[in-house]
Amino acid sequence: MTDRLPARRVRDTVLTAAVAYALGRVTQARREARARRRAAGERRAGIRNGGAAGAGREPARAGVPVPRAAGQAGAAGQAVAAGQAVAAGQAVAAGQAVAADERRRIAGELHDLVAHQVAAMQVLATGARRALHRDPGAADRAMAAVEDTGRAALRELHRLLRALRPAGPAAELAPQPGLSGIATLARAARDAGLPVTVRTSGPLGAVPDGVALAAYRVVQEALGNVLRHAGPAAALVRLAAAGGALTVEVTDTGRGPAPPDRIGHGLVGMRERVALYGGILRTGPAPGGGFRVYARIPLDPAGAVRD
Ligand SMILES: Nc1ncnc2c1ncn2[C@@H]1O[C@H](COP(=O)(O)OP(=O)(O)OP(=O)(O)O)[C@@H](O)[C@H]1O
Ligand SMILES: [Mg+2]
Repeated sequence: MTDRLPARRVRDTVLTAAVAYALGRVTQARREARARRRAAGERRAGIRNGGAAGAGREPARAGVPVPRAAGQAGAAGQAVAAGQAVAAGQAVAAGQAVAADERRRIAGELHDLVAHQVAAMQVLATGARRALHRDPGAADRAMAAVEDTGRAALRELHRLLRALRPAGPAAELAPQPGLSGIATLARAARDAGLPVTVRTSGPLGAVPDGVALAAYRVVQEALGNVLRHAGPAAALVRLAAAGGALTVEVTDTGRGPAPPDRIGHGLVGMRERVALYGGILRTGPAPGGGFRVYARIPLDPAGAVRD
């Protein structure tokens, strides 16, 4: 499979896809972070106002000394203390939700950005080892691709770490990958030794960006999985826009699912992403052998598809 591995082409396609994706993720990450900061600010303001954020409601007086008769003062003091305890509880819960959200996002970033490149290195290294005695030149080229991919992975890791801090302006301009990026994914998989055919039908130009991005991620993960888990195989990617939904199917002719020996992030992440758009995802053995990933996502953001 690595007899004629074009190291430069592998590097270029992997880099192009990875950089476009990384920049897209950074933009998205930043938008999400801004939205979270806004939401957290509003929550904090609400808590400071004793929760009376609605228009026309009387502002709460927690912390504002108001002269009262002695009997009233005790009851009011207890109410204020209770209100403060509730507010503190809300603040802790809000903080925990934000932290959990952030952890989930970082895990997704690490998987999508870095795991794919490390997986590609693993495939290239296996190819190099197999070709070592038979064709040392091919092994050498494969190892050069491992080097380049490793460097790119490290760059992505640094980029990811930077994205988690306040970021610079360039990434704001980067587009998210969409359906047109799937051809690049297929090329990169072919360069890594997997024959891939892509078939499309229907008005794919009308697919909304978010749905297109979800489809791109499904194909990205599915092809990565074929490379890693299917053994010798060929893959077929089908994209069809019809009946108000986008259908994405990736099948391969490999060894099919093995008894689960570990739980990965890939299939879970795919399912979450597709569900976010009201779609469904099915994974498992393909009818004629091999593995099949099938997703159906509504084109109308308010819609939902059924089996
Ligand atoms: N094309 C495939 N052929 C055979 N088995 C597959 C295929 N795709 C997925 N699998 C099986 O499903 C399991 C779960 O896949 P998943 O993508 O969730 O995790 P992973 O690839 O093992 O790890 P990662 O978290 O890096 O994605 C795999 O470990 C593998 O056993
Ligand atoms: Mg995977």
